[in-house]
Amino acid sequence: MMRVGFAYYPEHWPRSRWKRDAGLMKRGGFNVVRMAEFAWAFMEPEEGRYTFDWLDEALDILGKHGISAILCTPTAVMPAWCAAKYPETLATQANGQRIVWGVRKNNCFTSGTYRLLSERITRAMAEHFRNASNVIGWQTDNEFGGPACYCATCRSEFRGWLRRKYGSLDRLNRALGTHFWGHIYTDWDQIQAPVDEGGHNPSLCLEWCRFNSWLNVRFQRDQVRILREVCPRHFVTHNFMGLYNNLNYYELAEDLDHVSWDNYPVWGKPEVPYGAAAAADVMRGLKRRNFWIMEQTAGPGGWGTFGRNPRPGEIRKIAYQQVGHGAESIIWFRWRTCTAGREQYWHGILGHDGRPLRRYREASKTARELRALGDLLSGTTVRTPVAFIYDYESQWALRIQPAFPENNPHQAMFRYYNALFRLGIQTDMISPARDLAEYRVVVAPDLYLLPDSLARRLCEFVRKGGVLLTDCRTGVKDETGLCHPRTLPGLLRSCLGIEIQEYETLAKDMEYSVEGKEELAGSYAAVHYADWVIPRGAELLARYTDSHMKKYAAVTRYRCGRGWGYYVGAVIREDGFYDALMAEILRSAHIKPFLSPPAGVEVCMREGAAKRLLFLINHAEEPRLVSLPCKAHDALSRRQVSGEIELEPFGIAVLRV
Ligand code: GLA
Ligand code: ZN
Repeated sequence: MMRVGFAYYPEHWPRSRWKRDAGLMKRGGFNVVRMAEFAWAFMEPEEGRYTFDWLDEALDILGKHGISAILCTPTAVMPAWCAAKYPETLATQANGQRIVWGVRKNNCFTSGTYRLLSERITRAMAEHFRNASNVIGWQTDNEFGGPACYCATCRSEFRGWLRRKYGSLDRLNRALGTHFWGHIYTDWDQIQAPVDEGGHNPSLCLEWCRFNSWLNVRFQRDQVRILREVCPRHFVTHNFMGLYNNLNYYELAEDLDHVSWDNYPVWGKPEVPYGAAAAADVMRGLKRRNFWIMEQTAGPGGWGTFGRNPRPGEIRKIAYQQVGHGAESIIWFRWRTCTAGREQYWHGILGHDGRPLRRYREASKTARELRALGDLLSGTTVRTPVAFIYDYESQWALRIQPAFPENNPHQAMFRYYNALFRLGIQTDMISPARDLAEYRVVVAPDLYLLPDSLARRLCEFVRKGGVLLTDCRTGVKDETGLCHPRTLPGLLRSCLGIEIQEYETLAKDMEYSVEGKEELAGSYAAVHYADWVIPRGAELLARYTDSHMKKYAAVTRYRCGRGWGYYVGAVIREDGFYDALMAEILRSAHIKPFLSPPAGVEVCMREGAAKRLLFLINHAEEPRLVSLPCKAHDALSRRQVSGEIELEPFGIAVLRV
């Protein structure tokens, strides 16, 4: 069943309006709302006094209109009384100053008081709403990822966490390489929380990232435990932030039934939203199952300045893109634009005036369609033979030491991802711990932290017939952030057939020319970074042509066992290079796209329960023609289609093939 609806804040409006809201939702074909994530002060106006009557009433009205609700633990904004009475619940910044209360997400996660207050409101809500007939599930907090806190408790918990992890100072000193600059610890109390990622020991900074991620996971776990105990029939989820990478989302997802995420792709001028596609794949990969959209662009958004309006057709198109990647709900943020507060201009489906206008009509059309598609979608998800290894810890380590200023792990990923997207191929985003055997292609961009065990698994994947693509800065470090004392690419040499004795970054005004051959024929520019790759058995697919670089490869291919190992030792400027490379990779893996989409059209496939559903999504504002390789049944028009079909601007099609 598809859930379609809104983030809804009855507490922002007079009770006299609530029936009209519910009526409009029902009339529009919507069936779910999410509520209360910022309503702590409304539910516990003073410590220990709970007031849920308003929410009971709102739920009751919604229920009478056939609308279900997801309730949230409200801990993303502490009430004013909490900050005033227990100032230690506010996070302390790196400069030692406490955050001034009044924004949101400003709590300290180790404060015993805050944890206790969080457990109390969670339990009070859970007990009060466990039998509310239209409550279906819970969202923990809101968009975890609060500030790192540097208060005395957090610093001492950090030491305790390291102590549990390493057991002895000796092991800690070795793991973090504290011999450098003589940073050797002789007492646990000497360990500082690093305040400057650009200056402190990178290994210590990496541990600080892990610790802070874990604090969020632990905080959520305390809430989940209560919700599970009191409300066993309700699901528990959280609204993740797509490509946000400061937390280890695999760990945050572990305690949940499913992942939900907040999708805001409308920013600058309309363009192909590769980011929203990749984010959806990351979200699906966290638990290896379909996800919910818990918030989605409903109108212009911003806190001071604000962005553009979704154009006609865009609200619907954004929704279908996510469904094509595995979304089981579309919840827009928000129902009605608030007349007050910092998000006065974060526009909802309704404006300040509360009238159901164009955006409402488009959301309503989308809602009706998606609900009608519900049965067809059920039991289906994305299945693909292509996976990217998406590793949070490598991303943290690269943020701490990016090698070149423009290096951003997502940019590296998108060079390959976007090319596959253009070729009509979907991908899974997987944790490095995942079994690789179910894939034919594994892309491991910027896999900077490479424990030996993972290197061995990658080699075995290739030997057994897999195609591996990896690139510069892969395999440089071990899991505690020490550089491997080996010639690059370290253990991967056995599946890549290369050696890299030297490498460098290229400043803005520097580049090398690169000449590709065979499938990669063409002239390209290497920018930002260059590995001086020496083939040791690998074939050369592209070489540098500048005089001192002539004998080095930039891109290689190696036959290893039954598979292939590809290496890209530079950042190549031209998109065309990546299009050719990914086409070559697909050929090596014997993967054929279902169809070749025209520019701007995205191809998604959901499969399962003996069904195959093809999603065609036109991200362009002009019509596009797509040639179908076979007859199909159009699930929306309920007609047979074949040959060429036309997608209108921002148009979509869902075809059973
Ligand atoms: C996030 C939050 C929402 C809201 C929107 C718009 O996704 O979860 O509460 O703030 O952004 O700013
Ligand atoms: Zn703290």
